[in-house]
Amino acid sequence: MKQDMILILDLGSEENPKIAREIRALGVYTEIHAHDITAEELKGLPGVKGIILNGGPNHVVDGVEIDAGEHVYNCGLPVLPVDHKGAAGWPEDDEARKAALRNFVFDTCHAEANWNMDNFIADQVELIRRQVGDKKVLLALSGGVDSSVVAALLIRAIGKQLTCVHVNHGLLRKGEPEQVCKVFGEEMDANLVYVDATDRFLDKLAGVSEPEKKRHIIGAEFIRVFEEEARKLDGIEFLGQGTIYPDIIESGTKTVKAVKSHHNVGGLPEDLQFELVEPLKMLFKDEVRACGRALGLPDSMVNRQPFPGPGLGVRCLGAITRDRLEAVRESDAILREEFAKNGLADKVWQYFTAIPDIKSVGVRDNKRADEWCVIIRAVNTVDAMTATVENVPFELLQHITARITGEVKGVNRVLFDLTPKPTGTIEWE
Ligand code: XMP
Repeated sequence: MKQDMILILDLGSEENPKIAREIRALGVYTEIHAHDITAEELKGLPGVKGIILNGGPNHVVDGVEIDAGEHVYNCGLPVLPVDHKGAAGWPEDDEARKAALRNFVFDTCHAEANWNMDNFIADQVELIRRQVGDKKVLLALSGGVDSSVVAALLIRAIGKQLTCVHVNHGLLRKGEPEQVCKVFGEEMDANLVYVDATDRFLDKLAGVSEPEKKRHIIGAEFIRVFEEEARKLDGIEFLGQGTIYPDIIESGTKTVKAVKSHHNVGGLPEDLQFELVEPLKMLFKDEVRACGRALGLPDSMVNRQPFPGPGLGVRCLGAITRDRLEAVRESDAILREEFAKNGLADKVWQYFTAIPDIKSVGVRDNKRADEWCVIIRAVNTVDAMTATVENVPFELLQHITARITGEVKGVNRVLFDLTPKPTGTIEWE
């Protein structure tokens, strides 16, 4: 293995991700594992040079004080207990704490600062090959950052043993399915199954206006389509997943309760349960993007803004109709093009259009015409819990308005959403 690793065992501290990032900032790879890691699991982790037992406020689980097993203390590696069994906590002072970490990592553990994306990729390629052997892996490739990066990594590791399934639910942004087919099908020469399920999804969604119902239909139908494709393929034993570390935190650990449940392709039937391959599960989002870049994915793919799983389905407000879906897709494409041209694409956290199901009167070709309106939303946030509105130059908004009303069929008005979160949410439904 090319990288050394400092292992952090979660004994109830909420600071684990922060400590992990601080050690990675020193150039040393870290992984966070549960306190009850077995001797076998510990042995299976490559390149471990030292262990931090990081205690904290959540050290009592179900009324029992948690601790690492004896094998951890006796494994022969340096162990640093923090805030655990009488040990002191981290120094309050940031510099002192960094010095303490540096001291443990380099002087006590003699770890080398050899964490970089090339080494990470080389190690993951070897680990994936070890796990998978000559068996086959299936991956639901949405074209989002995480699934794209995991696809590229799996292709590097096992090539044609991987089959990617790209389900186009008809609610993707303009150009997205084409980009997935071009990058993975052509450039990376992957086994790619492309399923255009647009009609199936839109038929199921017809007349449904309740947002949570729409989300449920889209999620359930996605699993059904994916399941059908999986059944067509023989001898698949593994399922690739673009799980990343924040997903694990949000899903809850042994010491911290779940914030929200993560589904991805969770709901597959019993007889289609595969062993998971999740090579990105220890990476933070910026590291996932760096990994994708190192694997040669285009910037437009790795720097993508967040996009909800139900896609344009929750931006075509109320009951989805094909004409409004097309209008929201086209207006979103114009907005993205103009933001890119004007240096806003990499600056603004999330920007998109939404289309309500109301018409207003207007004038087109000197005639009275009832048409749809489009709402522009552009927000900045750190964690999506709160958000502020981007101060988009007025001239640019006027230019985008002229383009949308001129180029997008059936739209005669453009509105700009001035509402921060709260009181508005980022999406409209
Ligand atoms: P809200 O609208 O709650 O959105 O302020 C916060 C962030 O979450 C995204 N979002 C979703 N992502 N499935 C997703 O995968 C969804 O159903 C969904 N709804 C909202 C939203 O785009 C924003 O980034």
